[in-house]
Order: sequence, then structure tokens, then C-alpha cells
Amino acid sequence: MCGIVGYIGENQAAPILLDGLSKLEYRGYDSAGIAVFNDYNLEVAKAKGRLSVLAEKTDNGCGVRGSMGIGHTRWATHGEPSDVNSHPHLSMSGRFAVVHNGIIENYISLKKELSGKGFEFISETDTEVIAHLFEYYYNGDIMDAMIKVINRVEGSYALGVLCSEYPDQFIAVRKSSPMIVGLGDNENFIASDVTAILKYTRDIYYLDDNEVVVLKKDSVKVFNKDKEEVIKEKFTVDWDVSAAEKGGYEHFMMKEIEEQPKALRDTISPRIKDGKIVLDDISLTTKDIKNINKIYIVACGSAYHTGVVGKYVIEKMCRIPVEVQVASEFRYCDPIINNNDLVIVISQSGETADTLAALKEAKNHGARILSIVNVVGSAIANASDDVIYTWAGPEIAVATTKAYSTQLAVIYLIAAYMAEKLGMLTSGEYAKFIEEIESLPDKVEEILKSKEEVQYLASKFFNCHSIFFIGRNLDYAVSMEGSLKLKEISYIHSEAYAAGELKHGTISLIEDGTLVIALATGQELFDKTVSNVKEVKARGAVVMGITTEKHENMEDVADYIVKIPATHEMLLPSLTVIPLQLFGYYVASLKGCDIDKPRNLAKSVTVE
Ligand code: G6P
Repeated sequence: MCGIVGYIGENQAAPILLDGLSKLEYRGYDSAGIAVFNDYNLEVAKAKGRLSVLAEKTDNGCGVRGSMGIGHTRWATHGEPSDVNSHPHLSMSGRFAVVHNGIIENYISLKKELSGKGFEFISETDTEVIAHLFEYYYNGDIMDAMIKVINRVEGSYALGVLCSEYPDQFIAVRKSSPMIVGLGDNENFIASDVTAILKYTRDIYYLDDNEVVVLKKDSVKVFNKDKEEVIKEKFTVDWDVSAAEKGGYEHFMMKEIEEQPKALRDTISPRIKDGKIVLDDISLTTKDIKNINKIYIVACGSAYHTGVVGKYVIEKMCRIPVEVQVASEFRYCDPIINNNDLVIVISQSGETADTLAALKEAKNHGARILSIVNVVGSAIANASDDVIYTWAGPEIAVATTKAYSTQLAVIYLIAAYMAEKLGMLTSGEYAKFIEEIESLPDKVEEILKSKEEVQYLASKFFNCHSIFFIGRNLDYAVSMEGSLKLKEISYIHSEAYAAGELKHGTISLIEDGTLVIALATGQELFDKTVSNVKEVKARGAVVMGITTEKHENMEDVADYIVKIPATHEMLLPSLTVIPLQLFGYYVASLKGCDIDKPRNLAKSVTVE
């Protein structure tokens, strides 16, 4: 949600801003704008709709001249998507231009106060108060104004600010919203994430909350709120430009599905040494693990679905009670947590507002926080006691695939690591589990080789109005993800049900020709799921069964079968989910949907 890019250097800023914003489109937006200093004043161009509208309006940026500027893609929260509500926002005199990602929670009282002082508001946004606050506090020193502004605003913000009286520099700050600084050769950048600037530089600074950065063409200085300079460590991102490009694929989603074997290898291999799981990244000792009273897993969307798998796996392997909750509920349910509880927070982006707030809630109760995050240096990673990164690389498609898969891999590593420390596994079981984890990337590769089988099935069912997914235990957990994948990108109504629960109501929705995708991969509950398949078949359902190569009885009951390789029972979700991702993708593709940017959705949900 909302993307920011800023540039200062020797080149024309506007084309670079538009290019950077195009890399942030995946975050979700409904309008875009840029502001450029044109040697005299700040020139602003904004447009509702896709970035292409802004590009056309500005002749691909050539119509707005100047080598310093800021750009923004806006996902509407305060006020409808419109030209006037788009960023950048100007202060009344036109001296300041501001782009903002986040929410200013006290904007109503600030707006009243500023209106009382004669400031006129033209938009419905919370951001406009920031532009006017700059004007109000400005006494010739932009840094002073910035400190005063951030002392007044409450909420979350990443801000890029241009001032027409500072033609050779611009200023930025972040708190609980993402922003990195890119360090180039005679040019410097800010951006919501590195994908926007990878083409120009891979050297970056991560900013901590309320660090203010002053960017000039040939220097970048970071200050704390006391205006003392902070010496930052430079990070070099090892992703190359192709990581954020489609590379010949029609959609990022398919590229990312295909990248899963590599993402899994990158996530798993460095953490297995000499037949042992080594989690150097975390400080949890054996004593800490033995003292864990309860584990909470908190996340949103697909990351929550990883958590549902995590509950089954950790409880089975470690015998520690695990509660999984969606973050937006957890934060308001007055959770019963204490300092013997471990809270595992899962997030691809590391910036989901509800997940971050839930983390803070848990921390306030004294819990220890272990997060599983894909974006290095993100707010959730920074706020956690321990972080285990998923090395999935940049994920651009809104519907997650490789991030979900690598989150699962980390859950398995954590479960086996703790189980071993707790003495819950024999050395043989431990070795076998590790061997099976290590073989997952190859098995995923094997499934991907026969993706045309799933494409064929998608061609039979893409006209369905409603599709049900059923399964038990881990198969149920994966059903939830399969159903979400399908509905978010194809807009087909879909629900996931615990197979045994169907007969308590949902089965009344089954009629002639309803497609039921039945997951029956686990050995223990296989026969039970087969019985549920028979129940829906008897009511006219068409059944697509997903099972392993070990199971043969499925052929007798299902109309269509997709087989996955066998593996350790606990690891099956990593394989089961692959045909479901492919099914969602192909159905959406056959329906002509905007697969990478489904309607109404954002990749990165930075509002509550
Ligand atoms: C959005 C995305 C989902 C993602 C969820 C949580 O809804 O579309 O794919 O699972 O946010 O995001 P996070 O970055 O916290 O994993």
C-alpha cells in the first residue's frame, strides 16, 4: 500500500521516479503523482488510476524537468481515489511538497488546529496536514521543521519532503512504515523498498524509526531526533535487477511459483550443517525452549495459513500448545500471555500494520517474539527479539507463493529444532526429518514439471461459480491456502472446510456439478477423508482429489486426481500447495484476470 520514490542527482528525476513507481505497483494503488523541483518552484503532476495515466500526462516524465523529485503511488484510505487526493501534497504557499505512506492518527485535531490558524485544506487526506505543518513550523531551517512535525504527528509515516528553498537537497523520515535509502554515484534515492531502485544501486541504508535523512546529489546524512548525526551501516543487497523483473514470464506469479525450489533451497540449506539444524539467527536457548509454556502464532492472510500448518506441526512434534490467530483479532482480544510464552509472528513484507500491532501487544505482555520475515530490516524484523529470514527474494505478485512456501520451511526447521532440544525425537527420526526437508526443493521441482496436468484441469473448471476445498488436519490447513489463492486472483467464490465439518451445514450447498477439491495426503486420516468425498459425490459433486503417489484408493472415488510425491507426513503441505497455486493461477489466466494485481487487493497492507 502506497509506494514512495525520491531522487536527487544529475539525471532528469521524473522518468526515474516513474520507473521506480512502476516497480512498486505491486504494493497496490489507485492514483499516482510526482513533484519535481524545476529550478524555480515545485512542479506537481498527479493522476487517478494506473501509473500509465500519469506517464501519459507527463510525456513519460519528459514534461516535468528537474533533477530532484519525489513520487508516490496512493492506495486510498482517507478520501476517495482522485487527482486532488493523490500525493504529493503541497503546503499552501507551494513551498513544501510531501509524499506519505502510513496513517496520521491525530490528523483531525491537527487539521482543526491548522484551519484555526488560516490554513486551507483542499484534499480529504491525512497527509495534507503534514504539508501545512511544515509551512507552519518552517523558520528557514528544514531540519528544525522536520523535527517539530514528527513531534506533533501520531501514527505511522514514511515521508519524503521537498522544499523549494532547498534546491540541492531533500529530506525524509520514517516511523513504522517502510523506507530505505539508496546510495548511488552522484545520485541518491529513497524508496519504499529496494525493488524500486535496484536498477540504479544495490547499496542501501535501512532507517530506524524517526531517523531523518538529508539527501544531496553527492552525500547522504542521517540524524536522530536530537539532530545528532547517526553513522549508518551500508548494506549491499544481493538481489539483482532480474529478481524484480518478469524475465520472460507472462506474470510475476508464475515466475514466483517456478522460483520455489530455489527459494526453498536458499532458506533451508544454510540452516542445516553436519546433519543438524542450526538456527544461528536466534538466541533461544535449550533452557528457554524447555520453559515455553505456550506458543502463539500471529499473522495475516497466507502467513496466517502458514501458522495453521505450524500449529499442527509444532504441537505434534514438540507437544507444546500452540494457538494461531489472525493479527487483527489477536490485538483486540486481550490475549492471555506472559513471559513464558513465545509469540511467532509471520510476515512476508514485515510491515503489515495489524501484524506489527499484534507484535507490539504481545511484547507489552512480556512475551518473547520470534518472527519469520522475508524483507530484511523491515519494521516487524526490527521489533522482534529474534528473526529468521525466509530467503525467498523479492515477491511481486500480490498472491504469495514462494514466500508462503519458505515460511512453511522455516516452521519445519523451528519445529524440528525445538523437538530435538526437548528430546522429543530419536536421532533416527531427527535425521530422517532433516533428510526429507532437504529433499523438498527437488520434489517441488518434480511437481512443477507436470504443471500442464493442472492447467488441463483448470480448463475444465474455470467457469465454476463456487469451488469447495476440503481436507483434515494438515490437509485442511493447506485447503485454506488453496481456497484463498483461487478466490483472490480468479474472483471465484470458494471456501475451505474441515472435511468432517461439511455435514454440519455446508453440504447443503453441494449440488450437481459443484467442484470439490479434496486433499487427502495424510496417511492417518486418508480413509476418513475418502468417506467425506463419498458424501459429496452422493450429492452430485465433481471431485478433484489431491493425494500422494502412495495412495491408490482415491481413484475409486474422485473424478480427477493430482498426485504429489510422498514425503514425511508433517512436510506434505509444502507439496500439496503447489498444484493448488497452479490451479488458482491457470483458472485466473483462463478468465483473463489481472493475476499479479487483483482488484481491491494490496501486497503490503500498511493500514489497519
Ligand atoms: C496481503 C497479501 C497476502 C499476505 C498478507 C499478509 O493480504 O495479499 O498475500 O499473505 O497481506 O502479508 P505479510 O506481508 O504480512 O505476509
